[in-house]
Amino acid sequence: MEKIRIETRNVSIEFPGVKALSDINFSIETGDVRAVVGANGAGKSTLMKVLAGANPGYTGQVLLNGNVVELRNPSVAKKLGIEIVYQEVDMALFPAQTVAENIMMNELITGMERKVAVNWKHIRTAARETLKRLHIDIDENLQVSELSLAQKQLVLIARAVQGSCNFLILDEPTAPLSTAETEKLFALVEHLTKTENIAVIFISHRLQEVLRICRTITVMRNGELVANYPITSQTTIKSIVDQMLGRSFEEYFPKVQGHIGEVAFEVKNLCDEEGMLKNVSVNIRQGEIVGVSGLVGAGKSELCKTIFGARAKKSGQVLLNGKELKIKSPTDAVRYKLGLVPEERRKEGVLVDEPVYFNLAAADLPKYSNGIFISRKKQLENAQNYIQSLGIKTPTASQLVAFLSGGNQQKVAVGKWLAADCEVYIFDEPTKGVDVGAKHDIFQLIQDIAAAGKCVLYVTSETSEIMAITDRTYVMYGGCVTAELVTADTTEDEIMFYSTGGKDNE
Ligand SMILES: Nc1ncnc2c1ncn2[C@@H]1O[C@H](COP(=O)(O)OP(=O)(O)OP(=O)(O)O)[C@@H](O)[C@H]1O
Ligand SMILES: [Mg+2]
Repeated sequence: MEKIRIETRNVSIEFPGVKALSDINFSIETGDVRAVVGANGAGKSTLMKVLAGANPGYTGQVLLNGNVVELRNPSVAKKLGIEIVYQEVDMALFPAQTVAENIMMNELITGMERKVAVNWKHIRTAARETLKRLHIDIDENLQVSELSLAQKQLVLIARAVQGSCNFLILDEPTAPLSTAETEKLFALVEHLTKTENIAVIFISHRLQEVLRICRTITVMRNGELVANYPITSQTTIKSIVDQMLGRSFEEYFPKVQGHIGEVAFEVKNLCDEEGMLKNVSVNIRQGEIVGVSGLVGAGKSELCKTIFGARAKKSGQVLLNGKELKIKSPTDAVRYKLGLVPEERRKEGVLVDEPVYFNLAAADLPKYSNGIFISRKKQLENAQNYIQSLGIKTPTASQLVAFLSGGNQQKVAVGKWLAADCEVYIFDEPTKGVDVGAKHDIFQLIQDIAAAGKCVLYVTSETSEIMAITDRTYVMYGGCVTAELVTADTTEDEIMFYSTGGKDNE
C-alpha cells in the first residue's frame, strides 16, 4: 500500500509563560499505530493540535510527503486528511441530530455552503455504509443524545474517517471507557490501520494498552521529544516511565498502615430516585480509606453524587458520627464537611475560567476571608502549597485553569478538596488522565488525610488502585454492593469476580 508521511521539522510553540513545544521533529507514516506518551503538561495535546490545524501559532515546518503545508486552521488539516478526536466528545457532536447526520456533518456543511439541496436518503445510506465498514453496531437513525459516551466516541471516529482520512489522532480516548468498550475501540484501531491504511496516533496514560496496541512510540518531556522507537517485546513499562519522567521510577506505592478508629461515616440502604442504586450500605472508620470498585456503569458515580446531594435520594440514610445528615443539595453536603472530587472534572470539578489559586480555594472560601473580604494573598499561599505537592504544571498560580493541560486540570480538581477541611472525602476516579508520577503524589496526599483521622471513600474501576491504597473495599455491580473485602486479604481477581456480578454461591 502506498505510504503517506507527515513530518514536523523544528516545530515550536510558545504560550505566555510556557514554552509548550521546543523544536519537535516528529514523523509518522500511514498504517502505523503510534503512541504518544509523556507526563501531564509534556506537550502531547499541543503537538497534536498543531497537526490538526488548531494551534496556528507554531513556528517551524510541517511536511506532507516532503512538501511544506501550512496547518493554520482545522479545515486545512481536514482537507489534507488529518483528523483529531478530542476527549471532550460532547463538544464536537450535535446532540439533537441523528447519528447519520453527525457522521455526515462535513458533507452537510459543504452542501450548505454551496447551497446544494440535501439528499437525506443519501446521508442515511452513506452513514450506514460507513458504520458497517467499520463494524460499528449503532443505529444511524438514533439521536446522538441517546448514545453512551463510548458510542459517541465511535460516531466521532466514523465521522473522522468518513472522508479521505490518512491520519487519525485520538487524544486519551480510553480514559472514560470500560474494559469491553476499550476492546471495541482497539478492534476499530486495528481495522483502520491494517485494512484502511490509516495512521493512528494514540495518546494514553495507560501504558499497558500502549504496549498492547501500538507499533511505535514517541515519548515527550517538558515540551521536547525525548525518544522515538518501535515497540518490541523488550520494551517495558518501566523503561517508558523512566523516559517520561527523566529519572528512574518504581511503579510501587508503599501503603502505610495508619491508626483506624471507630465507624464515623455511614450510608444505610441508599436508593436514588432514578432507581439505579439498590439499598447501598457502606461505612468508613476514622482514618480509613475505603474503596468502591466495580466496572464503568456499576453505579459508583451515582452513589457518590447521591451521597453528596447532587442526585435525588429516594430512601436511606447518611450518618456522620451517629447523627443523620439531611443532605438535599451539594451545599448541604459541604456544610456537613463532606467533599467530592467528581469524575467529570471540566463539567463539575473546576471553574475553567477562573485562576488556579481561586479553584484551589473554592471548596472552602470562608477559610481565606479576613472578616469581609476574601484574601488573595491567603489563596495564593494555599495555591503554592498544592502546586508544589501535586506538581501542577502552570506558569503562575494566576493562570486560568482552561489553559492547563488535561491532567493538570484534574490535579486542580483534586487539590481543591484536599485543601478544604473536610471530615469525609469522596474521590471519584481521581487519577483519570494523570500520569504515573502524579498518581503517586495524589495517593500520598490521600494517605496523609487518612492519617489525620479523616474518612476517605476512594472510587475507581482500576483494581490495581484499590489494591494500592485502600484498607477495605466494597464492590458494586448493577447498582448493588456485591461484596465487602479487606484489601490485605483479597486479590484483583476476586474483585473482578464480584465486579462482574459474581456471587458467593456460584
Ligand atoms: N492555549 C494555551 N495557553 C497557555 N498555555 C497552554 C495552552 N495550551 C497548552 N498550554 C500549556 O502547554 C503545556 C503543554 O500542554 P498539553 O496540553 O500539550 O500537555 P499534555 O502533554 O497533553 O498533558 P496531559 O497529559 O495533562 O493532557 C502545558 O504547560 C499547558 O499548560
Ligand atoms: Mg493532553
